[in-house]
Amino acid sequence: MSTFKAPKGTYDLLPPDSAKFLAVREAIAAPLRNSGYGYIETPGFENVELFARGVGESTDIVTKEMYVFETKGGDRLALRPETTAPVLRAVLEANLHKAGNLPVKVWYSGSQYRYERPQKGRYRHFSQVGAEAIGAEDPALDAELIILADQSYRALGLQNFRILLNSLGDKECRPVYRAALQDFLRGLDLDEETLRRADINPLRVLDDKRPEVQKQLTDAPLLRDYLCDACKAYHEEVRQLITAAGVVFEDDPKLVRGLDYYTRTTFEFVHDGLGSQSAVGGGGRYDGLSEMIGGPALPSVGWALGVDRTVLALEAEGIELDIPSVTSVFAVPLGEEARRVLFSKVTELRKNGVAADFSYGGKGLKAAMKAAHRSGARYALVLGERDLAEGVVQLKDMESGEQIAIGVNEIVAELESRLG
Ligand code: HAM
Repeated sequence: MSTFKAPKGTYDLLPPDSAKFLAVREAIAAPLRNSGYGYIETPGFENVELFARGVGESTDIVTKEMYVFETKGGDRLALRPETTAPVLRAVLEANLHKAGNLPVKVWYSGSQYRYERPQKGRYRHFSQVGAEAIGAEDPALDAELIILADQSYRALGLQNFRILLNSLGDKECRPVYRAALQDFLRGLDLDEETLRRADINPLRVLDDKRPEVQKQLTDAPLLRDYLCDACKAYHEEVRQLITAAGVVFEDDPKLVRGLDYYTRTTFEFVHDGLGSQSAVGGGGRYDGLSEMIGGPALPSVGWALGVDRTVLALEAEGIELDIPSVTSVFAVPLGEEARRVLFSKVTELRKNGVAADFSYGGKGLKAAMKAAHRSGARYALVLGERDLAEGVVQLKDMESGEQIAIGVNEIVAELESRLG
């Protein structure tokens, strides 16, 4: 063991389990690629102000959870705790929104960093696949994203997840509700910090998990009862579109999210087998975010699904993904000359698109065949000294155990035809 360990709240993805993570990322990305979303990648760090303004000065993410550092050049940067604000920053910077083709639809996949108290399902480094549709106000777009997330989870075989849906209103109706909620909260028996939160960001008090707080919130006013006609109609249309698509959801009038940029449609995907860290994904509309970071009005919607938690959800449901072995052919040379000949054949196989691996380190037959089995290869090629003299190689079918000699020069054609 080395002197070092992975930092607290992080873990390494190692083979073979890492294949599950790749498969989950792929399962989430495939429906997006199929629906007009282009791939986007932004840096792992950004100007800290982008998150302070975008995610919200008073959110836990910004006040407690960001990894902030100053560069030698004096810039204040933060490792990204989320990727919606960076994606919008990138789209605005490249003027993609001016190319006359709105919405700009993009998807991303990558690491996020939050200095949270680590526990199962909650890490300081985690991975999301996300999608953002920027520059259009259309309930069908909100519906599209919810339907695609549902499709990803179903493609993975997940069943015990639920979709919670709410509307957070817009700049017309939310302030009215906010004031009403503040009035209500001021009359409760709350500690000082919570009262302060009620002043700055009263909606987040609704999300307080403490039973003594929740007990007092039963009669809290609900945003649902304050929505303006435009928000009501918009929300109803989203509900109808996803219902028509056969996607089951639950109305959750108390759903608030931990980021301040949301307006109107908000949703969360929760999995019932994960204990307290049950949110496997979340998202919603953020019609004001562009203006908050200095851009023009660009109503937008998106989500991010947590890859780590989705893998935990698969485990909770006992789902084994069908991940085919990558290596098709495993080559076993016995002796110096055999190594040279077989190594060049392996290179040729790979160039021809056949996934091949090689027994390195001068292993004997027994240890090399063990490695061949472990690789999951369908065929082994064994080249001994006598074979070499005869210009043949032993081709072993690892499933049936059947073995035949083929000409060294036939290796590529033979394997190509057998593997289709
Ligand atoms: P979020 O709800 O903060 O939203 O994160 C989305 C998902 O990331 C969560 O549902 C969860 O699965 C995963 N996640 C968050 N924190 C952790 C953690 N500490 N450890 C493991 N997994 C975690 C956003 O990030 C928004 N940017 C989503 C969005 C995109 N909204 C609009 N567009």
